[in-house]
Amino acid sequence: MATRVRWLGHACLYIESAEQRLLIDPFLTGNPAAACKADEVDADYILISHGHADHVGDAIDIAKRTGATVISNYEISEWLKGKGVAKVHGQQHGGAHAFAFGRVKLTLAFHGSVLPDGAYGGNPCGFLLYLNDGTKIYDAADTGLFGDMRLIGEEGIDLAILPIGDNYTMGPDDALRAVTLIGPKRVLPIHFNTWDVIAQDAEAWAARVRKAGKTEPVVLEPGAWLDVDASKRAKKGQLRSRPRSLKRGTRRRK
Ligand code: NI
Ligand code: MN
Repeated sequence: MATRVRWLGHACLYIESAEQRLLIDPFLTGNPAAACKADEVDADYILISHGHADHVGDAIDIAKRTGATVISNYEISEWLKGKGVAKVHGQQHGGAHAFAFGRVKLTLAFHGSVLPDGAYGGNPCGFLLYLNDGTKIYDAADTGLFGDMRLIGEEGIDLAILPIGDNYTMGPDDALRAVTLIGPKRVLPIHFNTWDVIAQDAEAWAARVRKAGKTEPVVLEPGAWLDVDASKRAKKGQLRSRPRSLKRGTRRRK
């Protein structure tokens, strides 16, 4: 099964890969941009980037209904346990772990993380997903720009998911700089237009990404799907066993 990504609005993403269903930052109830209701989504895994209500969202209800395993930082995973979520998995920055769909590494994110009830939410994170089909997805989650995004780019990212809303996260200018640092094959902007304070013209931003020349921007409406098929590269005769970072490096020097 090819990897498919569906933007459910704000920072909420649904990913199908390796017969597994992943839900990231499932804020649907009370989300003015939500593409569906919380009781309409299924998940085998739920990933939570930080403690804010627009990311934890419906995670507890969905985890209890579906029996999904919730992946987040250690502090949030312990908090969820206390709320009656049966299957949690805590990690920390730089640490990766293998799941049925592939590996997840927590990345840095410059942001806050207090939980909805005021509890300490640990450090906020982004996610680097090494999916079993070879696809690499980097969801920066809520963060400002930071120079170490360059290190994440060295992994050879197929799809970067970046906030462009400004105010709480990177705005369009810094998100454009992030694209340059990461050098992903494609980039999907999120965390904008949910409320007036983060209103942005995503198409105008995409035009700037396109002009920069190396990354294909993909602007979705909430509810729309994106195929992220690593096999497309293989069809072009590239060896999938060869490290992608090496291929990208070669391409850049041309
Ligand atoms: Ni936040
Ligand atoms: Mn947020």
